[in-house]
Amino acid sequence: MNILITGGNGYIGSHTYVSLREQFPHAQLVIADNLSNSTVKALDNLKKIVQEEILFHNIDICHEEILEDLFSKHNFDAIIHFAGFKAVGESVDNPLKYYNNNLIGTLNLVKLCLKYDVKKFVFSSSATVYGDRVSPIVESLELLPTSNPYGETKAMCERILMDVAAINPEFSVSILRYFNPVGAHESGMIGEAANGMPNNLMPYITKVAKGELRALNVFGGDYPTIDGTGVRDYIHVMDLAEGHAAALAHLKPGTHIYNLGTGKGTSVLQLVDTFQRVNGVRIPYEIVGRRNGDLASVFADVSKAERELQWQAKRTIECMCRDAWNFEKNYVLI
Ligand code: NAD
Ligand code: UFG
Repeated sequence: MNILITGGNGYIGSHTYVSLREQFPHAQLVIADNLSNSTVKALDNLKKIVQEEILFHNIDICHEEILEDLFSKHNFDAIIHFAGFKAVGESVDNPLKYYNNNLIGTLNLVKLCLKYDVKKFVFSSSATVYGDRVSPIVESLELLPTSNPYGETKAMCERILMDVAAINPEFSVSILRYFNPVGAHESGMIGEAANGMPNNLMPYITKVAKGELRALNVFGGDYPTIDGTGVRDYIHVMDLAEGHAAALAHLKPGTHIYNLGTGKGTSVLQLVDTFQRVNGVRIPYEIVGRRNGDLASVFADVSKAERELQWQAKRTIECMCRDAWNFEKNYVLI
């Protein structure tokens, strides 16, 4: 099997490379990534983990001719498509940047799949496409408009893939809707390298633990949840990575949508408590007002992925906190 991993040098893509190598030891894995949100150091560390040279191409998948050159040289059997921008706030400030990169990249890939007869496609989507729904969330729900352009690009890409699969009976698409990926590879060599001010909870906590930020602002203490703080379905990035290998192994014609989460909700304060306990560090925090657009409680129904992909998230919240900190305390930006 010959697999193209777009965005394979990023946070989730690099961990997925590790899982794919374990699951498909003889596959040829090719990364296409323009390093717009990842580093050469991450690539070097990935090489050390998998102990092999990596077929890496520094290309922008929005450049159709350059991407076609890659398709014409490799006989790809499958695409796992991670490449895209993902910062919700930035997408509100700069919508065209998001519509351009996330849509053009996906359109180019799908066009070339049809032209070069690549039949398997795995797509990174997000729970954000569900909008405001009561949890646990099932895949069969109709999508609601999201509150930001980033979420809209995910919903539009899903739609493009579904429409193309509908008229190309051999095209097999797996749409994976991630809940909240956190943690890092157990080696501590790859992980989520947040540049600048982190927006997400776990990267913020690790920066506070490191002393780079003074205290965590907990957005809202009056939600109808166990302790008043927001509840999310955190999933260890290695479980998520293994979900991609399972999705690829079980691909079948048509479009198939799966939630990748644990099915369990954890509040902000529960996550902070666990982080402090397993890592022996203190996380000062302050409860402040709610963040615009946040939902009280979001967690997945994961029964479809468990049933059809024979995959289940195994790693605990303790493991997520330990691995996130292990990566952050060793990480030096180059
Ligand atoms: P990331 O930014 O770490 O990785 C994305 C990679 O794609 C980066 O290495 C970047 O350099 C590359 N890239 C971006 N645009 C490109 C282009 N035009 N051509 C080539 N390479 C390009 O992000 P991630 O957290 O690993 O997320 C991967 C995918 O999963 C994204 O599509 C994201 O929207 C989706 N997703 C992420 C989360 C999350 O919380 N991390 C949640 C849901 C969905
Ligand atoms: N939170 C804080 N303080 C912070 C950051 C976050 O209290 O500094 C809280 C939020 O209010 C929320 C929880 O921690 O209750 C998780 O927030 P994140 O920003 O880590 O994650 P979100 O669930 O808001 O968003 C994430 C991704 C989105 C994706 C969405 C899908 O960032 O890209 O999951 O469910 F769309």
